[in-house]
Parts: sequence; C-alpha cells; structure tokens
Amino acid sequence: MKIFLDAGNITELRAGVAMGLVDGCTTNPSLIAKEKRPFRPLVEEICGIVPGDESLEVVATDYEGMIKEGKELTLVAPNVVVKCPLTKDGLKAVRTLSGEGIRVNQTLCCSATQALLSAKAGAVYISPFLGRLDDISAVGMDLIRDICQIYANYGFKTQVLAASIRNPLHVVDAAKAGAHVCTMPFNVLEMLMKHPLTDIGLKKFLDDWNRSGAKI
Ligand code: E4P
Repeated sequence: MKIFLDAGNITELRAGVAMGLVDGCTTNPSLIAKEKRPFRPLVEEICGIVPGDESLEVVATDYEGMIKEGKELTLVAPNVVVKCPLTKDGLKAVRTLSGEGIRVNQTLCCSATQALLSAKAGAVYISPFLGRLDDISAVGMDLIRDICQIYANYGFKTQVLAASIRNPLHVVDAAKAGAHVCTMPFNVLEMLMKHPLTDIGLKKFLDDWNRSGAKI
C-alpha cells in the first residue's frame, strides 16, 4: 500500500518525505488555504518536495472551468494529478481529461455508485472519504471494501485512495480491505510507528546496558 501525506504544509511535507516512507501527497482547497501563501509558488514548492504523485484540486464546479483549471494545474509540475469533485460535471471532466492523457484523482467520493462511475470515466484514483462518513454515523470502511470488490470484479485500473483518514485504525482497516493508497495527515503518519511497549522496551535495554558498563 502506498502512503501519501494529506498536507499542504512545507515543514510537514519535508519531515514526512525525509522519513523515506512517503510515496506521494494530496492537497485540497482547505489545506492550501490554511497555508496563507500565494497558490502557484506554494504548489510548485510542494511538487518539488514530493517524490511521487501530487494531487492538486480544481475549484471550478462547472465542466468547462474544471477542464481549464485542470489543464493549468498540469503545467505546475510533471507529478501533478488533477483532483476533480465527484459531481455530474466532475465525472464529465474526468472523462475528457483522461481522454487527453491527464491523470485525475476523483475526490469527495461517498458512495459505491459514485466510485463505479468514476472508474468508468477513467479516473486514476478514487478518493472515498472515510472519516467524513464516520462523522455522520455511516461506516466509512464499508465503502472502501465495496469499492475494492467492485473494482476487482471488473478489473478496473482505478486505484482506491483511502482519504479523510483520522487515525491509525483507519490505515490498518484500509490496508486489510486492499486500498492501493492511504492519504493521511502528518500526525497520523507519526502515530503509525509509535507503541508504548517499544519505548518501554528500548529504555529497559539501554538502562541494563548502561548499568553493565559494556561498550560496543
Ligand atoms: C484528501 O484527498 C482529502 O481531501 C482529505 O483526506 C480530506 O480529509 P478531511 O476529511 O480530514 O478533511
């Protein structure tokens, strides 16, 4: 499973990439707005840091606007994947952009039917929003499982990118369900590697070693 950072913050991106475990990155208009920096220089810097695919989202909601913005976004860097929302116009935009060889991540997917249509339209990634479904008492993980099964049944090449990840359990369950990618905030990435027994065990090893006076 690929790990993407869900971030627009340069410090977090650099720290995540330095770990050597990050395969790509996703942003959305909220994450970019939080940085309070002009869009183009910020996303150029992000694309230069991220080793793999970098999803940049359109803000137009009409078909023509999405096509125009999508094409502009691809000029930022070769690793850009255009993100379009899962609406009627968004599906049409995915079809057109994919037809022209532009890779699209279809975002805000909240149902299996939406995911089916997106794969048929040619999206490279589908982004089901786990956390936001959980927030309204729907089981977000059921959607990941449904999409993985439907895509496998028909051999769709669209990759399932589990999004709106809020905690390590989301990552484990998405991996068990067979999601191709998990995009997560930096704090969740850090949580993935922590365990109190590891810290306690390491402290005990070092205390014992230091008391013994031995040297390597
Ligand atoms: C990423 O592609 C999504 O925009 C992001 O995961 C949404 O996360 P949120 O629901 O925590 O805002």
